[in-house]
Amino acid sequence: MNNTIEEIKNKLDIVTFINSFIPIKKFGRNYKGLCPFHQERTPSFVVSPERQIWHCFGACQEGGDLIRFLMKWENITFIEALRELADKAGVKLTKVSFEDKLWKKKERMIGINLLASEFFEFVLHKTQIGEKARDYLKKRSLETKFIKKFQLGYAPLSWDSLLKFFKKKKYEESELLDSGLLVKSVRGGLYDRFRGRLMFPIKNARSNIIGFSGRILDENVKEAKYINTPETLLYHKRESLFGINLAKEAVKKENNIFLVEGEFDVISPHKLGIENIVAIKGSALTREQLMLLKKFTNKITLAFDSDTAGEEAMKKGVEEAENFEFDVNIVNLDFAKDPDEAIHRDPIKFKKAMENSVPFYDFLIEIAQNKNPKNDPYSKKHIAEEVIVFIEKIKNPIVQSHYIKKIAAILDVSEASIQVLMSKLKRKRLQRFTLPSQKKTVTEMMREIIIQKYLLSLIFQSQDPYRLAEEIFKTFTIEDLSVPAFKKICNLFLKYKEKQERFYLNRFIETLPSELKSVFDELFLFASTEIEAKNEKIEKLIYEAKRFSLKRRISQLLSSESSDDNEMKESLRRTNQELTLVEKKIIAL
Ligand code: CTP
Ligand code: MN
Repeated sequence: MNNTIEEIKNKLDIVTFINSFIPIKKFGRNYKGLCPFHQERTPSFVVSPERQIWHCFGACQEGGDLIRFLMKWENITFIEALRELADKAGVKLTKVSFEDKLWKKKERMIGINLLASEFFEFVLHKTQIGEKARDYLKKRSLETKFIKKFQLGYAPLSWDSLLKFFKKKKYEESELLDSGLLVKSVRGGLYDRFRGRLMFPIKNARSNIIGFSGRILDENVKEAKYINTPETLLYHKRESLFGINLAKEAVKKENNIFLVEGEFDVISPHKLGIENIVAIKGSALTREQLMLLKKFTNKITLAFDSDTAGEEAMKKGVEEAENFEFDVNIVNLDFAKDPDEAIHRDPIKFKKAMENSVPFYDFLIEIAQNKNPKNDPYSKKHIAEEVIVFIEKIKNPIVQSHYIKKIAAILDVSEASIQVLMSKLKRKRLQRFTLPSQKKTVTEMMREIIIQKYLLSLIFQSQDPYRLAEEIFKTFTIEDLSVPAFKKICNLFLKYKEKQERFYLNRFIETLPSELKSVFDELFLFASTEIEAKNEKIEKLIYEAKRFSLKRRISQLLSSESSDDNEMKESLRRTNQELTLVEKKIIAL
């Protein structure tokens, strides 16, 4: 298998290949362009001809080889992409090639999940044990049609009914454990993870069951209301969207998807014919979920629970969604706790509310107004401050301009005053935390890492890495690096340097342990995204990196409980002295 992949990669050049999908331009040793997987205006998508890899340093933060590229581009599986590429490269895929272990394991796990769901369904519909769950569903007024549509089931209140079911079918314990359906006890025995719970299969967009969630039937039981499949080869919480398999078609038709929090909040709207709806299952809306949704639509409409947690989830989600340039709308469901309850209270009112969703920013303004109802200058200030943090981050200039006008009109102040406040916030955000070239908000810690990455990237991309490393490491040493993986890579670099007169990138990479290879690839490509950073004085960055390290050292010394107080004080004095020198240099540069 690996040989086949190598053969394909040898025949197809990644730069030519990717360039046939999107335009990329040469930039130093690498190529770069606008990332096809999210919307952006400054290119952060980098391709390396030497390494035959790509990486997006923008919203996606993802990368890989040409197989990974095609998988994402066409939304297909590994094996499908491989087939297509083998065809293109004129490489024959033998039967043996398909023995890719990971892939087979996944296929088998999909089979296990399907069997399990059939077992749960059988128990729910056909057995005496299932009666409790049938009654529960009746209580929540869910008819058979919808129970079947979502393939709901029931896991018996027993430690080993699923285990026994699979044992009879000759499955290995290890693969059952890997599927997340079973748990290993401290004494080493296996038992069923889901016991006495109503079961919801969670599917991916291609309708494979990737995991389950299970709900208790009795609210008084002192257990988590819902439990879910843990992270497995198939189930990744950050990527999962309950209901996506049934939503796909409707989403394309409506060019909109409703996002809700829970399973029942997806199922109940189906009763009213609303199918473009998925649940994020009670956690924050993630980048991974948004990337997946972007393939189907440009508009999301949030119908989260109407509590403070729901409001917070909403604000965070909007920030992420802005990165992907989604139109974000909000449904106001103030007459119920969540969509499921709203439908039970008043289905007509619910449907109207869903139809009358409003752009998120209008909703935000309304909340701020309600919180500060007076018409005095201080209330106006509060409203503006609450709202403008969000308005300032809007990516689209037309949308942003619309809201500047709107807020000015509502508060009866000049647009210029809104602009001033906005620039102030923006400057604060960019100045404090970012490289001039890096438009994203980052914390101080991230700035430290960004500078380290940038410096190391410059070293590895340069024509003469040995010389540049000597230059940089004069002030900022390997010991100053805060990321252990960076340290390891640099130490291996020094080792290589001792033995080899010249630096050969690919030979060096071969000396890296596999877990460091992807870290290295990202490091290697990083400087290619930093166009303007070229104008930034590298020397200044070196001193800034040093300053970060010294500051860290000082706080370590201050918090350490050293046995020798005098020695600690002496180190502190020396480090402080050094810091003063470094800060002087930074100001002078
Ligand atoms: N959830 C979870 N684990 C928990 C609690 C909640 O995964 N321990 C997820 C479930 O998907 C749940 C969602 O978060 O549907 C929202 O939780 P909550 O509002 O507490 O429940 P409801 O959706 O109202 O669930 P139900 O209607 O079944 O009571
Ligand atoms: Mn509910």
